Amino acid sequence: MTKSKFYYWRKLKSSEIRERVMKALDENVDFENNELIGVPASHLDPKVFNSGSPLLKDAPFLNSLVRNPNHIGCHTLGTSEPFFKGTQEIEKELIEICAVDILEAERESCDGYVAAGGTEANIQAIWIYRNFFKRERDASNDQIAVVCSSDAHYSMYKAADLLNLDIELIPVDESNRSLQREEICQKLGDLKKNGKKYLIVVANMMTTMFGSVDDPELYIDCIKEVGLEFRMHVDGAYGGFLHPFMCDENKLSFKNPYIDSITLDAHKLVQAPYGTGIFIARKGLMKYVYTEQAQYVKGLDATLSGSRSGANAIAVWMVLSTYGPHGWFEKNQMLMMRTNWLCEKLDDMGLYYYRNPTANIVTLKAIPEIRKLADRFGLVPDSHGDSARWLKIVVMEHVTLDKLANFLTALRPLVKSGEAVV
Ligand SMILES: Cc1ncc(COP(=O)(O)O)c(C=O)c1O
Repeated sequence: MTKSKFYYWRKLKSSEIRERVMKALDENVDFENNELIGVPASHLDPKVFNSGSPLLKDAPFLNSLVRNPNHIGCHTLGTSEPFFKGTQEIEKELIEICAVDILEAERESCDGYVAAGGTEANIQAIWIYRNFFKRERDASNDQIAVVCSSDAHYSMYKAADLLNLDIELIPVDESNRSLQREEICQKLGDLKKNGKKYLIVVANMMTTMFGSVDDPELYIDCIKEVGLEFRMHVDGAYGGFLHPFMCDENKLSFKNPYIDSITLDAHKLVQAPYGTGIFIARKGLMKYVYTEQAQYVKGLDATLSGSRSGANAIAVWMVLSTYGPHGWFEKNQMLMMRTNWLCEKLDDMGLYYYRNPTANIVTLKAIPEIRKLADRFGLVPDSHGDSARWLKIVVMEHVTLDKLANFLTALRPLVKSGEAVV
């Protein structure tokens, strides 16, 4: 971890976390004890969800669920629904922690919100840039293309489909999963010949299957050489809470002036509840997706979600505040230590795999003997059925050395018989 100064991110005691969340909830509307009758929202149904339980007293996240704040809109933009202003402040702080203390943005230079997941955050980015090119350059959809590597997540296809855009995949090197300059330049040249003028480039900060990381400079050089206009988004849904801590220099942060937005996802490595994708963009961009018709929402709505639970933002803030930046680094180091250990053992066996040194993913060639272990150990394939070419191990918190050792014990006899070596 190269960063030594953190502006917002602090490790807090559990009593401090509880106090902050409870105070924020108290600053939200109290549905029971006031005269408001126009808000189409309420606390959870007490007949079903036991809101009187003494358990809730010491459980800030459960309390947030029961009190059910709606974080509709994007609160870093300034004006939002006043009913939930207490907990919206926690979400704003979370966005600043991620933007500034993890992704190296200048303070208060970004907007963002907690999305349903990485998919939504990626679609939000591509939606913004499509509208930017349409509005500012008078572009038609067929002059715009989404460009990403062939290892990028399928949410880019969803985005291209929904937003009626073409998508161009840049093939990666089969063994090191990296982009090749010649391939990029050639594909971009072809796009230009075919009438594309504007590119929405998505660079990967750890791919789903390999944990590989794109070099954004390769895209930037080629785009300049070919002469096209572009905006660049980073998909850090998998790696956003890991890569910045494990690399010496993060080329995919907001320090890079060409990068305008980044997706993170707290329901993966952060172990937060589902519904905690995070979208962050430089200020001035959210306006391209304002829905003017959202007149009943104070501050309008510039998110894809619409209504969304404030409890999700609170959960992520709670996890990050429990660890603090150094605790987070330490937790990630433990995952790296286990992954390194696994790789050493695989090397001893002479097995082929791909692993990016800053990632906790080890992707094995799906040779028949590895396939034999796939169901038992839940190895995830790149493609289900007989066409699987790769099978991955993801060293999460629960994937201990004991579990990895069990896998290796099952693998060793296969390797000894010479069957599994490639
Ligand atoms: C790199 C990457 N991007 C995007 C996503 C989509 O995230 P979600 O499933 O939260 O929508 C994933 C999910 O695995 C991912 O690995």
